[in-house]
Amino acid sequence: MQHIYAVILAAGKGTRMKSKKHKVLHSICGKPMIDHILAELSQLDAKKTIMVVGHLKESLEAHLGEQVQFVEQKEQLGTAHAVMQTESLLKGKEGITLVLNGDHPLFTAKTLSQLIETHRASGAAASILTAKLDDPTGYGRIVRREDGQVDRIVEHKDATEEERLINEINTGTYCFDNQQLFSTLSLVNNNNAQGEYYLPDVISILREQGHTIGAQVIGDADEAMGVNDRIQLAQAAKFMQARILREHMKNGVTIIDPDNTYIESDVVIGADTVIEPGTFLRGRTVIGEGCHIGPNADLTDVIVEDGVRIRYTVMDASHVAGEATVGPYVYARPGTELGEQTKVGCFVDLKKVKLGRGSKVSHLAYVGDAEVGEGVNVGCGVVTVNYDGVRKHKTVIEDGAFIGCNVNLVAPVRVEKGAYVAAGSTITQDVPEEALAIARERQTNKENYATRLKNKLSKNE
Ligand code: UD1
Ligand code: CA
Repeated sequence: MQHIYAVILAAGKGTRMKSKKHKVLHSICGKPMIDHILAELSQLDAKKTIMVVGHLKESLEAHLGEQVQFVEQKEQLGTAHAVMQTESLLKGKEGITLVLNGDHPLFTAKTLSQLIETHRASGAAASILTAKLDDPTGYGRIVRREDGQVDRIVEHKDATEEERLINEINTGTYCFDNQQLFSTLSLVNNNNAQGEYYLPDVISILREQGHTIGAQVIGDADEAMGVNDRIQLAQAAKFMQARILREHMKNGVTIIDPDNTYIESDVVIGADTVIEPGTFLRGRTVIGEGCHIGPNADLTDVIVEDGVRIRYTVMDASHVAGEATVGPYVYARPGTELGEQTKVGCFVDLKKVKLGRGSKVSHLAYVGDAEVGEGVNVGCGVVTVNYDGVRKHKTVIEDGAFIGCNVNLVAPVRVEKGAYVAAGSTITQDVPEEALAIARERQTNKENYATRLKNKLSKNE
């Protein structure tokens, strides 16, 4: 079997993005475009993956590290010139060179391997991946001869009125016989509207030399889109999102309203989970089976076990164990670990807190830098006073403790097993096991004081 060499073109300026950031580092569904491409490519077993870089190359090198071999194109003289820069790495090698544009993030490994298979089977010198688009504006058009064979590719800017009516476009993805490619590249000139060395010109040169040119029309035209500006970036994200959601639905996840659900590409969701609208699942989030997430949940890098209910919640880098109930209105910051069958919300702010099995923080509380045991009840309005203006301190609440409403727990402090803390207390010392702590002024009632006060006030009027 012939080796595959992948060449990704990414040296261009990406002018139409109007961005300081490299075009291929712009994200789609939570991941830079180039990462999507490399993830698909990694399934193809390429012997080398080479990336042609120029404009903003440092940021690409920093992002990708060793994943690809970089080749610099100092001046961006066109796509043929870009491929030419890989000469020292590829020339003379036997094999298939797969050329891709860095700004086409939607191709699947399946599509790319089909192109390679077709190319191999046909014995063509070059095979182009093409697509039929409703609006082919801007793309190079595939000009075919009467017998249906590909004749050449004409760039939009060079095309005649008639050629612009052609709706079959060049996706910028090709397989070449590597040796043929390098013997042809040097013959490409820049006599065209943009004064550039066009890679598509290799096609007509090869054909004129008597070689066969193959073309494969992509089945799903949505995959073919390129990203040149922010409008296309948003469209590409929509396609990618729809694809991700379809995969989850195929795996048994119910998505109530796919148009209002945003799930990034690396998220995992178990079967029989229901996702309601307004839900954003990001990063390395993993959701178990039989959960009910949303409406309005924004989870980043959160691990959720089975049977959990989460609504109206923002959560980052946290863990939720089975059958917990979260929300409405919970903000859980990194390091939150909710045990099985815990209940938090509504209006609860959590940070770096471990909540044991069955414990509850049901209303209007802030619990941070805390370790809470099992079966603890944290009442309404409880605050762990964890910050002294300089450092953060820890609160420990042991199993079965009961923290009354509006209690301040001034850390560092420990409430031992089964203890009670009376409502309204400000606790600054540890509370022993099974004790009751009251730390507030004792109530005094002044008989008839209210009547006297009101009389006095009305006389003064
Ligand atoms: C190119 C194709 C066009 C095809 C379209 C698909 C050419 C001449 N045209 O057009 O037929 O329909 O892609 O999207 O190839 N690049 C370099 N060095 C350069 C120039 C470009 O590395 O000197 C890179 C760019 O960073 C980009 C890719 O090559 O990733 C394509 O360049 P771009 O300018 O976007 O080409 P298009 O006009 O989109
Ligand atoms: Ca482009």
